[in-house]
Amino acid sequence: MKIGIIGAGNVAKALAKGLIQTGHEVQIGARDTSKLMSWTIAPSVTLKEAAQFGQILILAPNFAGVEDAIQSADPTLFVDKVIIDVTNPIAIENGKFTLTIGTNDSAGEYIQRLLPNSHVVKAFNTVGAALMTQPEIVGGADMFIAGNSEIAKNTVTTILQSFGWRVRDLGGIENSRWLEALVMVGIAYGMKHQVQHNAFQLKTA
Ligand SMILES: NC(=O)c1ccc[n+]([C@@H]2O[C@H](COP(=O)([O-])OP(=O)(O)OC[C@H]3O[C@@H](n4cnc5c(N)ncnc54)[C@H](OP(=O)(O)O)[C@@H]3O)[C@@H](O)[C@H]2O)c1
Repeated sequence: MKIGIIGAGNVAKALAKGLIQTGHEVQIGARDTSKLMSWTIAPSVTLKEAAQFGQILILAPNFAGVEDAIQSADPTLFVDKVIIDVTNPIAIENGKFTLTIGTNDSAGEYIQRLLPNSHVVKAFNTVGAALMTQPEIVGGADMFIAGNSEIAKNTVTTILQSFGWRVRDLGGIENSRWLEALVMVGIAYGMKHQVQHNAFQLKTA
């Protein structure tokens, strides 16, 4: 499929590489395309060009910039598309990581409100960029998703399974609240134990 990535940082590059390796066409949308001139794995284009290109769009800016990035890309280009939201509303306060929204709202819901005619699926946010398309590094981990459209979640599930993830669907986009909070578990554990990579696995009885 043609996939446009909005945002051009570590996550965008990791996903672009993995998606190309699994047969997709990818364009990365950057607000400053000159920053990616030496990065040749996927074409880097403007935010609007990436949004135009993608049948599926991945939102991968910092959460604080997400609304601005959507506006720059042109929200009409998101209509009726599957939007994969990888963002985490994380900030550092008093030297510690924290969520800027949570419990009764989430980045996933905020983005779905910004794009009411798009099909937002929260995915990839619970693992670091290095693991996103290579789950075998930790072995047997799960990828959790949330979103209101079953069809969109099926599309995202197919992509995730092509990378080797077992997919755990939590339900509607409001469950992004718990996926974004889960990230804090990984960060806290990683900082205390100096673990660079971690992922989660849900056991059911
Ligand atoms: N890194 C991880 O392992 C990881 C894992 C899971 C989820 N996430 C989430 O994924 C998102 C991206 O993380 P990252 O590590 O890739 O961050 P990053 O390397 O800092 O890259 C962020 C990208 O967002 C762009 N950006 C920021 N504000 C923008 C705006 N207003 N308009 C357009 N582009 C804008 C930046 O552009 P400039 O270069 O021009 O500033 C940069 O290309 C974040 O929401 C993060 O919480 C990250």
